[in-house]
Amino acid sequence: MAAMRDAGRLVLGIETSCDDTSVAVLERGTTLRSHLIAAQDHRLYGGVVPELASRAHLELLPKLVERALHEAKVAPGELTGIAVTRAPGLVGSLVVGVAFAKAYGLALGIPVTGVNHIEAHLHSSALEHGQSPYPAVALVVSGGHTELVEVRGFGDYRWLGSTRDDAAGEAYDKIAKLLGLGFPGGPEIDRRAANGRPDAFDLPRPMLDRPGLDFSYSGLKTAVATALRKQGEPPYPVGLIDDLAASFQAAVVDTLAVKSMRAIEATGARALNLGGGVACNRELRRRLAVECEARGVALRIPTPRLCADNAAMIALVGAWQFDRGDVGDPELDAVAALEESGLPILRD
Ligand code: KG4
Ligand code: ZN
Repeated sequence: MAAMRDAGRLVLGIETSCDDTSVAVLERGTTLRSHLIAAQDHRLYGGVVPELASRAHLELLPKLVERALHEAKVAPGELTGIAVTRAPGLVGSLVVGVAFAKAYGLALGIPVTGVNHIEAHLHSSALEHGQSPYPAVALVVSGGHTELVEVRGFGDYRWLGSTRDDAAGEAYDKIAKLLGLGFPGGPEIDRRAANGRPDAFDLPRPMLDRPGLDFSYSGLKTAVATALRKQGEPPYPVGLIDDLAASFQAAVVDTLAVKSMRAIEATGARALNLGGGVACNRELRRRLAVECEARGVALRIPTPRLCADNAAMIALVGAWQFDRGDVGDPELDAVAALEESGLPILRD
């Protein structure tokens, strides 16, 4: 079937793995014709509420698809394929996207391919920076993940490290709560840290003195809580919060940068590709730029919109899957756990 062979030409991407609903139209795996992200308002509950997230996806998705097609000036019948996040994530949220994609694909008579959300983060920098040189190291740092991966090409991965407990973004969010800042905590700590002294508090750099490329952030959280308790009762002076934010951030950035450089040295990588919401962090970007420059390694960081959860990266990987000969899967199922999502996350 001619349409199948060309399924990657004009792809509708759908992302509903967590709380953001996103839709994109991507042409030939390179040109983003439209890209919409509807972020949920967390002010009421101070975090993600799974039931509310899936209900919001259900309500928003049809409207977003209609608007994305309108903005792309594409009629539904012109689409050649659909790419939808199938794993990992909140199961109730994933199911909404997968069910919508299957129904829409069936109605249009075009193939639907399931995309792994973490795999999409590994490659999201390609949307703006083009094809990565290989071998590359990818660092995915988000609210749910801290993954360090050797990428030898599309589909060819070796897991190097991940977190033993909290994800880097989760640590940012928990510390922000402790310091009385809003959710999500990353952007706020990023801002406050710019006014603080990174050496004001002597905080641990978990797992830095050990071999291996895993991370751990729960001990750092305890250290910040202890440091704060020693300062007495709230309300705390602004300067203290700024200093603690800066000291905490310095510890996180240190661990991420040092392990990323170790990964680059161990693999001979020519590029470091970033993904995930924490990749928006200004201090992390600055530090990695210095370290990569010193080693002659290309640092490829997406713009903030493409760092966080987005459908453009889903459409990108979907287009590559179609180009590789994927004919779609009418039986597609949502899978919540990364361990069961088909990526080679086990290490020796
Ligand atoms: O990738 P993402 O939008 O969603 C998932 O978790 O999948 O990442 C959200 C995470 C949150 O934990 C948020 O606090 C963190 O990214 N984040 C940041 C910054 N912007 C967002 N962390 C540090 N610095 C930032 N500028
Ligand atoms: Zn994500």
